[in-house]
Amino acid sequence: MEKRECKIGKVLKVLGLVLVALALVVGTDIEADAKKKKKIELTEEEKAMFDKWEVKPKKRAKAVKDMRKRPKFVGATKCNGSCHDAYYQAWAKSSHGDTFSLLKPGTRKEAKERVKLDPEKDYTTTPLCLRCHTTGYGQRGGFKPAGSMNKKGKDTSTKIDPDEPNKEQVGCEMCHSAVGGSQFRAVMKSSKGNFSKAETERYGQRWDYANVCTRCHMHKNTPFKPEVHDKYKFNFEERKLKVHQVAEYWNEDNEDQKLEKKDDRAKEVGQTEKTPLVIEDFKINAAGKIRFKKGTKPYNTKTKIFIYQ
Ligand code: HEC
Ligand code: HEC
Ligand code: HEC
Repeated sequence: MEKRECKIGKVLKVLGLVLVALALVVGTDIEADAKKKKKIELTEEEKAMFDKWEVKPKKRAKAVKDMRKRPKFVGATKCNGSCHDAYYQAWAKSSHGDTFSLLKPGTRKEAKERVKLDPEKDYTTTPLCLRCHTTGYGQRGGFKPAGSMNKKGKDTSTKIDPDEPNKEQVGCEMCHSAVGGSQFRAVMKSSKGNFSKAETERYGQRWDYANVCTRCHMHKNTPFKPEVHDKYKFNFEERKLKVHQVAEYWNEDNEDQKLEKKDDRAKEVGQTEKTPLVIEDFKINAAGKIRFKKGTKPYNTKTKIFIYQ
């Protein structure tokens, strides 16, 4: 009899503890929620924009939080998700979706020899090459080559999945966004694509496509210049047509992702088209680190200012 009472006592005790723990967890959750909600106040401008997009009040705080985050590269697979499947599939099959392999030994021997690069050398960790053959190298959230480590010696190199091209290639963000995906992604999701060019430029989207290509093509740091071979001449109007050959990638599962406003938008002229953003000038310093020349980054993360030409 005594033993049984003891057991019941124990059970009650344990139950009590579980209840207390639960109360604590739920309690702090509510507190944290309250804190989060308190902190975020929408500006009049933000309110007006969400009203226009008919964004549910519940979703506004989260979207604004993302928009105000420090810019960071997120990678092409994040643009795929449930949003741009056809664009992602087409990109993965395009030249830009396979730029990393060109840095491996034995690839494009003739082209490398022509510019006095060693065709047997592994360039997959060479900073100069990574700048133009991967996404966001040397910048927040950008590609990190094999052997990258943090201060504690932990491996921080970007995982590469051969079936899902991502930051190791020339991804979406290298052409579309000056400041990485975090803010602009929130705009796209909230607006469901129903935005004007001007509205997205405020959050780092750029429309100066012809200009942005010169980050790599015709850049003074590329070894593959027209002087070396005619095929490196860059005709924007011709090349543009090859960037997104999406037509054959639409199907039952993704056709709802077609952008209704795309053609209307094409008629607008964005600020970035009128006065294009600057193109980065960079060099690799003695320690092998990429350094952007002062004043040549299109977006200053500290002052949150875009630099136009
Ligand atoms: C400033 C940007 C830039 C840098 C730096 C750069 N590349 Fe490239 N690379 C490009 C561009 C742009 C092309 C495509 C040129 C074209 O097709 O018109 C290219 C093409 C290539 C090709 C294919 C050429 C062909 O004709 O098949 C190879 C191989 C290559 N790069 C390797 C490298 C290596 C190795 C490095 C580092 C030593 C490097 N690249 C540095 C921009 C760059
Ligand atoms: C090499 C540069 C480049 C890369 C990389 C790139 N794009 Fe584009 N993108 C363009 C250009 C140029 C246009 C305009 C011409 C067109 O629509 O084909 C465009 C247009 C678009 C549009 C239509 C926008 C509109 O409303 O007018 C979408 C959506 C898009 N890209 C998504 C993506 C996604 C998703 C990725 C990555 C998987 C990607 N892009 C990678 C250059 C690029
Ligand atoms: C971050 C660097 C980078 C940017 C920005 C970039 N490219 Fe490229 N592009 C490359 C590299 C590297 C290759 C070489 C791929 C190969 O040879 O397989 C390439 C290849 C291409 C090709 C395939 C070659 C061909 O003609 O069939 C086209 C087309 C092209 N780029 C168009 C563009 C356009 C248009 C833009 C601007 C909207 C642009 N690129 C912006 C790096 C870049």
